[in-house]
Amino acid sequence: MKVAVIDDEKVARNLIKRFLEKERFQVETFPNASSFYTRLANDTFHLIFIDLKLPDINGLDVLKKVKSTNPDSEAIIITGHASIDSAVEATKMGAFHYLTKPLKKHDICLIANRARQSLRLKFENKTLRMTSTGSGLIEGFVGAGPAMQEIFKLIKKVALVNCNVLLQAETGTGKQMVAKAIHKISPRRSKPFVYFNCASFTEELISSELFGYEKGAFTGAATTKKGLFETANGGTVFLDEIGEMPMSMQVKLLHVLQERQILRVGGTKPIDLDVRIIAATNTDLKASIKAGAFREDLYYRLNVVNIELPRLADRKEDIPLLITHFIKKYSSRFKKEVKKIRPEALNLLMKYDFPGNVRELENIIQRAIALTDSEQIEVKHLPDELLHQGVENMSAVNSPLLPLEEVERLHILKVLQETHFNKKLASKILDIPRTTLWRRMKKFNIKG
Ligand SMILES: Nc1ncnc2c1ncn2[C@@H]1O[C@H](COP(=O)(O)OP(=O)(O)OP(=O)(O)O)[C@@H](O)[C@H]1O
Ligand SMILES: [Mg+2]
Repeated sequence: MKVAVIDDEKVARNLIKRFLEKERFQVETFPNASSFYTRLANDTFHLIFIDLKLPDINGLDVLKKVKSTNPDSEAIIITGHASIDSAVEATKMGAFHYLTKPLKKHDICLIANRARQSLRLKFENKTLRMTSTGSGLIEGFVGAGPAMQEIFKLIKKVALVNCNVLLQAETGTGKQMVAKAIHKISPRRSKPFVYFNCASFTEELISSELFGYEKGAFTGAATTKKGLFETANGGTVFLDEIGEMPMSMQVKLLHVLQERQILRVGGTKPIDLDVRIIAATNTDLKASIKAGAFREDLYYRLNVVNIELPRLADRKEDIPLLITHFIKKYSSRFKKEVKKIRPEALNLLMKYDFPGNVRELENIIQRAIALTDSEQIEVKHLPDELLHQGVENMSAVNSPLLPLEEVERLHILKVLQETHFNKKLASKILDIPRTTLWRRMKKFNIKG
């Protein structure tokens, strides 16, 4: 992230530069507005520190210019004690925040990091709009980070080729979304996409569901019925939980894949079949093969292209974007006006491990939107597991730059846990009246 610092006072300029470079910002300094304007002509800055009293141009005018050239940047005003009123004025004009001189390291870093987070969210919102409209993939399929961008590329490539695909990934990572996306952008898109869960049927049912049956094939077969393969002819069949398919069915499926023909149950006339199979599993098929539970020849037939989806915990950069997406989805579904998530709540979600991956995140946001009465999601709307995480190694002093409220919450939680929720003892340690502790616990949704 590129930062510009415009201040005629050399000490102040260099101080900010030094502190922010430690926080991994890329910083350039300018002694006046005109030198900054020259640079601005061929470069963009994401975060701009502007001294209100510059020798050549008024700081507020610089702010206006910055905001009009790049509305996606954030400006921070630097001011002396005397000019706090104009600083407040500046924030009304769109400045992110202001710093008063003498400058303190802590304030500089805190505000810069907050601005960075805000910019990131803005950026992700923007990419969200782009991915849901212009990416060519299906609507609502979100992923801005490099891991998902690779997956999108792969999907686009695979969609155009008529081959079977095996999706291997943990539960809730979006296997079904990938399958639908492949179908939707493939030349087969005008033909059906048919879903079949291999785990939820008995062997006989799987046969009649997949292949259909002729009238009188078995008791109860009163009429001839087309199977899913036939219905999907020309399109795509998504075989979910393929690892659960019984051995005897695996043989039949292999046969279909080899011959490109099916026989209805009780039928004698083969029917030509043209389908793409996308199979999905969250089990390790290689291990199943070793254990004798999955046919190796079928595995190779299905696994022409293998797509492994990353766990959500391994692509946390997508979390803010997914949250924005789910907030939109559920506030419109529940007819609510929820617009955002408080930074403390986002922080907690960023730290969480998500064993249920995207589905779990979606459920968390859905629940929070159902619970909130305001236009934002707060910490108290998140499930308890999240609230209680990360306390073990929490030390307010060494912690990353957290909002004050979050430090307070974590500290209270820590003391309560250490005292086994003995509130008398906890309030003594915290040196606050018990009623205050009780109010704080209520505010932070700490139960005990
Ligand atoms: N990249 C994504 N963008 C938006 N929503 C997503 C994304 N990935 C997953 N989801 C949502 O998460 C939920 C789970 O996704 P999906 O059903 O595709 O996962 P899965 O891998 O098939 O899970 P399972 O193995 O449990 O069947 C769905 O509601 C889906 O809409
Ligand atoms: Mg699924």
